[in-house]
Amino acid sequence: MIYIGIDLGTSSVKLIGLSQEGSIVGEITKEYPIYFPKANWAEQNPEDWWKQTEEGMKELIEKFNIPKDQIKGIGFSGQMHGLVALDQNGEVLTPAILWNDQRTSKECIEIETHFGQAKLTELVGNKALTGFTAPKILWLKNNHRELFDKVAHILLPKDYIRYKLTGDYATDVSDASGMLLLDVKNRNWSQEMIDFIGIKNEMLPKLYESYEVTGVLSESVKESFGIQGEVVVVGGAGDQAAGAVGTGTVEEGVISITLGTSGVVFAAHNDFAVDEENRLHSFCHANGKYHSMGVMLSAASSLKWWVEDVNKGTSFEELLREAEESEVGSKGAIFLPYLMGERTPYADPDARGCFIGLNMHVKRGDLTRAVLEGVSFGLRDSLEILKDLNIPIHQIRVIGGGAKSKLWKQILADVLNHPIDEINTNQGGALGATILAAVGSGQYENVEEGCKMLIKSINQIKPVEEHVNQYEKIYIKYTSLYTCLKDWFKS
Ligand code: XUL
Repeated sequence: MIYIGIDLGTSSVKLIGLSQEGSIVGEITKEYPIYFPKANWAEQNPEDWWKQTEEGMKELIEKFNIPKDQIKGIGFSGQMHGLVALDQNGEVLTPAILWNDQRTSKECIEIETHFGQAKLTELVGNKALTGFTAPKILWLKNNHRELFDKVAHILLPKDYIRYKLTGDYATDVSDASGMLLLDVKNRNWSQEMIDFIGIKNEMLPKLYESYEVTGVLSESVKESFGIQGEVVVVGGAGDQAAGAVGTGTVEEGVISITLGTSGVVFAAHNDFAVDEENRLHSFCHANGKYHSMGVMLSAASSLKWWVEDVNKGTSFEELLREAEESEVGSKGAIFLPYLMGERTPYADPDARGCFIGLNMHVKRGDLTRAVLEGVSFGLRDSLEILKDLNIPIHQIRVIGGGAKSKLWKQILADVLNHPIDEINTNQGGALGATILAAVGSGQYENVEEGCKMLIKSINQIKPVEEHVNQYEKIYIKYTSLYTCLKDWFKS
């Protein structure tokens, strides 16, 4: 039996096949464009997601000779929060507004002013953040009433793919948690929030747990892939919850850090937990429980920007080699990674990226290292909140594109003053998606069992005491910079 994981990311969709025995039988990645029509806006075309997923599925089956009668289940991991608006015929009405789009400041204020933070926390467990879906719906209503009036279905990105595969309008509670429309604690839509945003309940997808079956592949889709027999499709999860399943972060005490486009510090809980100031996201987890997470908007994407935009023509390898020759603290240079504004801990769409502390001795390698350090300090901000909440931290696991760099992982261990565990897989969300499909298909009894079977720590990167002491001082300087600059960011 084969389970397929579809990981619908921001730059590409990755599809993997997992055998019943637990090995990855094939992997295909297909890219699609992202559009930035205005500063701080970010959009994609849902039809591009589908075209590339469809192509990717065909390629995966052909290239890796996956027996067409052996595919039993499909699961998803999806970029979260994006608004996909469909008309009554299921046609896309407007480009999807993505998680990192910051156009909704006014709508967030409108929501916060109406409810107040305490009531918001009670209703939906979270703050009104520009990336979340409900403010995007309100933006559409406030700015394009003619389109808003035609909206019949609201979906999250991965759920558009589900719709194309099965014809069902459905989502899972982990991804729905990031809409600001879900009563996270009770795992139901919040009627008060739905009424305030001004949508009808039937516009929203049906809710499922991540490992529950939401439907089956439609006959026409099976025919186009040449697949025989019934294929179940499970809820799947938002990319962070799916990624946490893919790192085995399903028990209290295990923390996962993702060094992807965004940077995430993720903690699993048995019970719903929220701090008074709601500094972390409080979401449903994909194993039927809950999680807290801090999200930085530009993590590996800060390095991508530095390498591909600012230092175009010089390879990643060359720049990282130069960074290795630099030193702890990058000769005084500090990088603030707020290239798309910031979520945790500041929830400030106006924050900007900066290099500070330059002098004539600072060379390019120091600046590259400062980027790695700045992102690591940003992740520490979230870890400090977890500590404030007394969330146990026994093990930290790291995944994502940035986790390929040994240097970055060492810096992270030193900045966080905690060992970093390397695990036997870097498949992240895609693996999480296949585990959810395997649970829904009855292969594993629950998500925890699937994780135990497939995911193990293989190595530990330990913090170097001397570096820890140096970073302790630099971190204090780093955190003071936002306070100094926040009014300037707004001006
Ligand atoms: C999570 C978040 C990101 C996006 C894109 O809250 O915004 O993880 O889902 O990766």
